Amino acid sequence: MDGSLRILLVSCALVSMLVSSSAQTCGSYTFSNNNLYTYCSDLSKLGSYIHWTRQANGTLEIAYRQPNFSSTNWIAWAINPNSTGMLGAQSLVAYVNSSAPYAYTSPVSSYSTKLEAGSLSFAVPKIQAENSNGEMIIYATLELSSDVTTVNQVWQEGPMSGDTPGTHSTTGEHVQSKGTLDLLSGQTSTGGSVTSSRVRRRNIHGVLNVVSWGTLMPLGAMIARYMKVFQAADPAWFYLHVACQCSGYIVGVAGWATGIKLGSESSSVQYDTHRNVGITLFCLGTLQVPNQYGEF
Ligand code: HEM
Ligand SMILES: *[C@@H]1O[C@H](CO)[C@@H](O)[C@H](O)[C@H]1NC(C)=O
Ligand SMILES: *[C@@H]1O[C@H](CO)[C@@H](O)[C@H](O)[C@H]1NC(C)=O
Ligand SMILES: *[C@@H]1O[C@H](CO)[C@@H](O)[C@H](O)[C@H]1NC(C)=O
Ligand SMILES: *[C@@H]1O[C@H](CO)[C@@H](O)[C@H](O)[C@H]1NC(C)=O
Repeated sequence: MDGSLRILLVSCALVSMLVSSSAQTCGSYTFSNNNLYTYCSDLSKLGSYIHWTRQANGTLEIAYRQPNFSSTNWIAWAINPNSTGMLGAQSLVAYVNSSAPYAYTSPVSSYSTKLEAGSLSFAVPKIQAENSNGEMIIYATLELSSDVTTVNQVWQEGPMSGDTPGTHSTTGEHVQSKGTLDLLSGQTSTGGSVTSSRVRRRNIHGVLNVVSWGTLMPLGAMIARYMKVFQAADPAWFYLHVACQCSGYIVGVAGWATGIKLGSESSSVQYDTHRNVGITLFCLGTLQVPNQYGEF
């Protein structure tokens, strides 16, 4: 392969790896129970986060996080199937109940609700709350219909009034905390940015590839090309070159394998272009190995 074409390909790969692994707030979060979700979004109001995984049969697993939580408050996250805003919100509510976190479901039908427990318009086989490090988290499993792909979401925080949730503030972000959520592509309408929660492993994938295809392999090629001319460096250049190419290739295989593993895990998303570029580069890189030694 011509040197400049090779450098061009490697730069493209570098840029695409870096762009796709740039970290965002919710994506770098690690759950204490090691749960992993396909997507997350930094909700632009009230400083909260929604993490979710959508199964093909419609089942939705979510984790809703409210950092900076005060134990005299309640939090809620809801899907509103037929409307936007609070009325009709099928809510997941949590608060600290005699010092233990407690979560339950509550369908909201009026502005004078006391968030009484009740069943929602879809089944919620699992709901629980966790309060740690000043953060309140609701974990839940929602059995949505598989044809539901975009939902209206609403979220809120308000004060406890004795044993029951009291009225939340009705100004500022407390009346703006609503929008849509695309469960399949992760797009939100309320300015929330979406990332995959698997960012850490994606960073490993990115770093391995950059070190291998982006650094070691070109370095090895440059050693061969430029050090060869110095008689004194003979045959040291050859060993250096072989060392760079071999270690580069091994690291590259590891980077490629983590990429393939990540891709196979995301059943709902296929990063087709990235995947194809990765596979093509890997094949070209692999062909390069015997090809190069044919030259000597
Ligand atoms: C103790 C229970 C609750 C009470 C008494 C309550 C009361 C109210 C009232 C009176 C308003 C109207 C404010 C206005 O005049 O504009 C309002 C708006 C709002 N509430 Fe609640 N609320 C409660 C629970 C919730 C929950 C659980 C959520 C979310 C899951 C929520 C989300 C909202 C949102 C987004 C708005 C603004 C948009 C809209 O009017 O629909 N509220 N709430
Ligand atoms: C949907 O799929 C998930 C995982 O594949 C499974 O755990 C769950 O039981 C299924 N739910 C329904 C209602 O079939
Ligand atoms: C956390 O809450 C406190 C008191 O309500 C507030 O002063 C502070 O700015 C909040 N911090 C963040 C990061 O939101
Ligand atoms: C939404 O509308 C559908 C169809 O009209 C109805 O069956 C369903 O009960 C409504 N859901 C809620 C939460 O009001
Ligand atoms: C506290 O939580 C329990 C479940 O753990 C629930 O049955 C009970 O109603 C809650 N108490 C209050 C005052 O909400």
